[in-house]
Amino acid sequence: MDTLERLVSEARAAFDAAADAAALEQAKARFLGKSGLVTEQLKALGKLTPEEKRERGAAVNRAKAAIEAALEARRDGLRQAALAAQLAAERLDVTLPGRGSTIGGLHPVSRTMERIERLFHSIGFVVADGPEIETDWHNFTALNVPPNHPARSMQDTFFLEGEKDTLLRTHTSPVQVRSMLAHVERHRDADPMPDLRIIAPGRVYRVDSDATHSPMFHQVEGLWVGEGVSFADLKGVVADFLRDFFETDELKLRFRPSFFPFTEPSAEIDVAFMSGALEGRWLEVCGCGMVHPNVLRSGGFDPERYTGFAFGFGPDRLTMLRYGVNDLRLFFEGDLRFLGQFR
Ligand code: DAH
Repeated sequence: MDTLERLVSEARAAFDAAADAAALEQAKARFLGKSGLVTEQLKALGKLTPEEKRERGAAVNRAKAAIEAALEARRDGLRQAALAAQLAAERLDVTLPGRGSTIGGLHPVSRTMERIERLFHSIGFVVADGPEIETDWHNFTALNVPPNHPARSMQDTFFLEGEKDTLLRTHTSPVQVRSMLAHVERHRDADPMPDLRIIAPGRVYRVDSDATHSPMFHQVEGLWVGEGVSFADLKGVVADFLRDFFETDELKLRFRPSFFPFTEPSAEIDVAFMSGALEGRWLEVCGCGMVHPNVLRSGGFDPERYTGFAFGFGPDRLTMLRYGVNDLRLFFEGDLRFLGQFR
């Protein structure tokens, strides 16, 4: 093998041994660089006669071209290998089960409230609302619970710091008063005034916390005021509602005499299911009664002419009964394993 052939095969071996692009560039410099082995051969041509130069020159150039081709081939090989390695590292296993995307849903208590609104809407009630930060007057006084009246202790109240006349409403009943005042104002010139029928769902607050009480909970207030509205109307409306809500006629209802300052007479409504896990147990679901004359007066109605009934449901409680949930706090902890079951 002559020098040039050896040079070409050495170069090939060196290029093949280069494990990456940097090593390959170093090997290239050793052969093709300014003072590399091939360049050395070219420089040596100067010492030859013109005759020898032509022949030797052509041979050196062939060797150089062969080395350059080997270099290019190796570069290509390294590029392919790098790409293959990257593809292997970043490979996706498309046979793995997908992570899926979760679909949101309404909170179970929101579902109940919407359901209650829908059922009452179908018999002519409109949705009303009021502020959660309420005045003492709307929350208590106007509802026939004057300052210092012992009935105030029935509802353990959050007062706002430094403001003795504002509080977090303890019930949705103040919406009764706000709605009556707005209704009377709107129909000042009507005689008789059209009936007022509202349903007022919302959040209420009390200093209370255990398995069946949370410091924030929900209520739905109902009110119907008009000429000749009676306790019989109250019974019919509430009984129909409860049967629709629980989707069963297999429901027993009991109106149990009770006391609320804002109604007279007052009752609590208990339901008993005739089948299922709660079969035969009486469960309280609602307070109600005929609106007290003092409350009608607070709302601007003449109690000699107009009568009305009111009721207050706990939708949290209704949700627990409808779905068989036994701890109220589950609704407010935000655990998706629990909430995800109500879609
Ligand atoms: N506001 C009462 C409470 O929070 C519930 C209630 C009872 C509302 C009787 C009413 C009613 O409208 O007539 O305990």
